[in-house]
Formats: sequence, structure tokens, C-alpha cells
Amino acid sequence: MDKSKIPADQAEALGALMDDHRAAKKQFKAFKDTEDRGEKESIALEVCHQLTVHATIEEEIFYPALRGVSDEIDDMLDEAQVEHQVAKDLIAAIEEDPAGDMLEANYTVLSEYVSHHIEEEEGELFKNVIKEKINLRDVAQAMAARKEELMRETA
Ligand SMILES: [Fe+2]
Ligand SMILES: [Fe+2]
Repeated sequence: MDKSKIPADQAEALGALMDDHRAAKKQFKAFKDTEDRGEKESIALEVCHQLTVHATIEEEIFYPALRGVSDEIDDMLDEAQVEHQVAKDLIAAIEEDPAGDMLEANYTVLSEYVSHHIEEEEGELFKNVIKEKINLRDVAQAMAARKEELMRETA
């Protein structure tokens, strides 16, 4: 999705979520590109933290703001909720044992899974949000404030 084409009422909220998506994808690549085990572990833990904060602001603020707008959006939100749960299980497994033998496998599945989720959010959900002209200006403010709080609390 091209950020410059997002209408003003949705630009800030969707733009901020897309920035998080880009940051996660960059980290997925960085993990693959390094052979250093210690670096892999620290990248993995950093991604887990970022994704947890991102999922929390979506679940607490973004998704509820979209609930009930259309049946299509509600179906997408149901699916997103299931996808978040699977991601959380993988994140929990990584955080529990970052030094373990399963790090590479858990992380690889997490990155593939989250990449797919990002494609769906941007390609389907965000498109519908724009089509339905949902005003997300207040939502953007609330998400930014909550993100700051979560980053501070859990850093
Ligand atoms: Fe997202
Ligand atoms: Fe999401």
C-alpha cells in the first residue's frame, strides 16, 4: 500500500501501523542476514517486544474502532484476532527460551506468519477502512499515546 495515497482522515493511523510493519519486516531480514547467534537472539527478542506492543494497540484501539462498520470488516477482524493469537504463542515460545534449539524454527515461522498477516491487513483491511471512509483521527492519537506508554512500561 502506498502511504501517500491514503486520505487525510486515515493517513496518520494507517501510516503509523505501516511504519511498524516495515520495521518488523526489516528485523526479519536482519535475523536472516546474520550468522551470529547472540545477534539472532537479541534481534528475535526485540522483534517480539515490538510485535507485542503493535498487537496490543491494534487489539485495544484500532480493531475495536472498526467493529461493526461492515460484515466484511468484521470477518477480517475475526481472522486477524486468530492470527494474533498464533503469533502470540510463537512469541511466548521464543521469549521463554531464546537460547534454545528451537529459536530458528520458531522465529522463521513467526516471520512468515506475521508477513502474511501484514499483507492481509494492508491489502484487505486497510483498503476497506479507506473505502468506508472511517475517520481515524482520534484513533491515531489514542494509538500513539498508548504505544508510548507501552514502550516505556515494557522496555
Ligand atoms: Fe498490524
Ligand atoms: Fe494485526
